[in-house]
Amino acid sequence: MRDLPKVELHLHLEGAAPPALIRDMARRARIDIGGIFDAEGNYAFRDFAHFLKVYEAATSVLTTPDAYYRLTRAVLGESAQNGVIYTEAFLSPDFCGGADLHEWRDHLAAIATAAAEAEAEDGIAMRAIVTCIRHFGPEQARATALCAAETAGDFVTGFGIAGAETVHAPRDFAYAFDMAREAGLGITAHAGEWAGPESVRAALADLRPARIGHGVRAIEDPRLVEELAERGTVLEVCPGSNIALGLYPRWRDHPIGHFHDRGLRVTVSTDDPPFFRTSMRREYDRLADAFGWDEGVFTTLARTAAEAAFCDDATRARILKRLDKPHD
Ligand code: ADE
Ligand code: ZN
Repeated sequence: MRDLPKVELHLHLEGAAPPALIRDMARRARIDIGGIFDAEGNYAFRDFAHFLKVYEAATSVLTTPDAYYRLTRAVLGESAQNGVIYTEAFLSPDFCGGADLHEWRDHLAAIATAAAEAEAEDGIAMRAIVTCIRHFGPEQARATALCAAETAGDFVTGFGIAGAETVHAPRDFAYAFDMAREAGLGITAHAGEWAGPESVRAALADLRPARIGHGVRAIEDPRLVEELAERGTVLEVCPGSNIALGLYPRWRDHPIGHFHDRGLRVTVSTDDPPFFRTSMRREYDRLADAFGWDEGVFTTLARTAAEAAFCDDATRARILKRLDKPHD
């Protein structure tokens, strides 16, 4: 089961940076990123707000297109080792040159080159979801959406929002999302992770996403769960992330079990794997232990992810074929 082909829809590129790579880059660039590691060299943080600070400190060493090239190769190599055959990575122009279109194009080109090499050498396909950062505010999000719209195409296929759910409201970002939608990008939004079910309702109403990042706190509102089932909204669920950040105490308490039983379109992702000491293999193992899920369930989850992927139909057909014949 651990070797089943996997489809991941929710992975932050910077959040997947191996700590050793970040340390190496910091040393070479003589950047002091402070005490963001524990004694074993892993990322260390106390809570969600601190996690975002540590995340941004680590990201601050990624200052050139070449750094993003190295990062992308490392991240995709690791994902491929975990059996991931297709992944969608969140990219933030805010971190790639400050959402300046020229800088962004250079960073994106380096990331796309690394992705093409990984596809040829590691057998993993990647698409990019350009992501604005909620706590950077709606104005910055418009600059980010412009970067997304200007580079939308075969590689940049989606637009989303991440960051602190406790500031601003989804409707403040409607303009940015409309621009991205006009450019033909698939839409996803982080909601129902740190804020409650009302944040999922607001994201659905004001941003009209096909997918919700996390969405787990919808479980607190049974009518919303019904609505998600009826709408067929896909949830990008990241159980290990939620558990590491203290949302749920144990794997068997995680809402994904109920969502799956209720027939919601759920998928499994890692979010920021080294931060949460997880991997797609570990997610599968823990879910199998907690809910008794077998190969059939995991194949259904991967098929749901392939169906909801922001990619062209030929790519989707290729992924589905690999899922149908996992042992080929
Ligand atoms: N950015 C990276 N990981 C995130 C998460 N889990 N929630 C919101 N923003 C993020
Ligand atoms: Zn996320």
